[in-house]
Amino acid sequence: MTPVTSDKNNLFSPILFGDLALANRIIMAPLTRNRAGEGNVPQDMNVEYYRQRAGAGLIISEGSQISATGLGYPGTPGIHSKAQVDGWKRVTDAVHDEDGRIFIQLWHTGRISHSSLQPGQCLPVAPSALKAAGQAMTHQGLQDFETPHALTLDELPGIVAEYASAAENAKAAGFDGVEIHAANGYLLDQFLRDGTNRREDAYGGDIAKRMRLLLEVVEAVIAVWGAHRVGVRVSPENSFNDIKDSQPQQTFNAVAKSLSDYPLAYLHVLEGDMLSGERQMDYQALRNCFTGFYMANNGYDLESGNSAIEQNHADMVAFGKLFIANPDLPVRFAKNLPLNTPDQATFYGGDERGYTDYPRYN
Ligand code: PHB
Repeated sequence: MTPVTSDKNNLFSPILFGDLALANRIIMAPLTRNRAGEGNVPQDMNVEYYRQRAGAGLIISEGSQISATGLGYPGTPGIHSKAQVDGWKRVTDAVHDEDGRIFIQLWHTGRISHSSLQPGQCLPVAPSALKAAGQAMTHQGLQDFETPHALTLDELPGIVAEYASAAENAKAAGFDGVEIHAANGYLLDQFLRDGTNRREDAYGGDIAKRMRLLLEVVEAVIAVWGAHRVGVRVSPENSFNDIKDSQPQQTFNAVAKSLSDYPLAYLHVLEGDMLSGERQMDYQALRNCFTGFYMANNGYDLESGNSAIEQNHADMVAFGKLFIANPDLPVRFAKNLPLNTPDQATFYGGDERGYTDYPRYN
């Protein structure tokens, strides 16, 4: 790849997480594609999909449930069974064969699930018994969300243990590190926000209490991987999955400050609203609360990505839809080549079409 010359860093500059070197700062964002095989096990087409995208400085895998209760959608891969670990090992081997780097995103969907997807048809779990507006994607089609089971105090150590065990499994599967999914209205985000966390115990109330579960998970995962191999993803203004907070700037500035206590690989921030793209918060202020690397995401392109890094707003930029449609995105960016257009109709589920058949540039 021909780096764009500049004395400042840009998307093409290498970056180091402790002893892990990334060749560039063009990151593949975590993308749910609902194409795992039987048993939520990564299969051949998933191996090929990630192999094709190994030119990213870092691939962050699609969200992968840490346990059977963490599942929220059909066809998302897990990282809790032996078969899933073996399936992911084929993915990480393929990415490493191409000299790529890959983290797995550890996911628990909390209330964004449905009893029909849960072990024993139990209700999904959440910080508080508050039903999300909207519908779950189930094997029987869309069904209304249900009022979740509010996790009891004595059930919380089990959730932390599931993250630790998934982190161990990720190591066995050959990943280079892990990203903790604390964004987009799933379990850890449900704890962070005052709209979904109405607990009156040590895990609810002010932001120090609402972030307690996240920090316990961060510590448990760091114990397995070391902090330099652990990233955290948040989405302060996203409304996806009926999530809200009365003071997102204060909430997430506080989260960024507390996460600075650990020498994490990065803080990954989905800026603005995932669906509308609207942004009201001051992300520079949020970034200034975090002392480590900041990964920006949501709607960036070559120009805005480069300028975010040059102007020190971000250290890395994650691209989602552009990586769906352009397996060779870093080469296209470096040479200013035209980009393929992503096809929304094939984002979720299906076969190789719209998945592994986007062409590289000539
Ligand atoms: C999605 O299914 O669109 C989805 C899944 C996980 C996310 C965000 C979006 O974190």
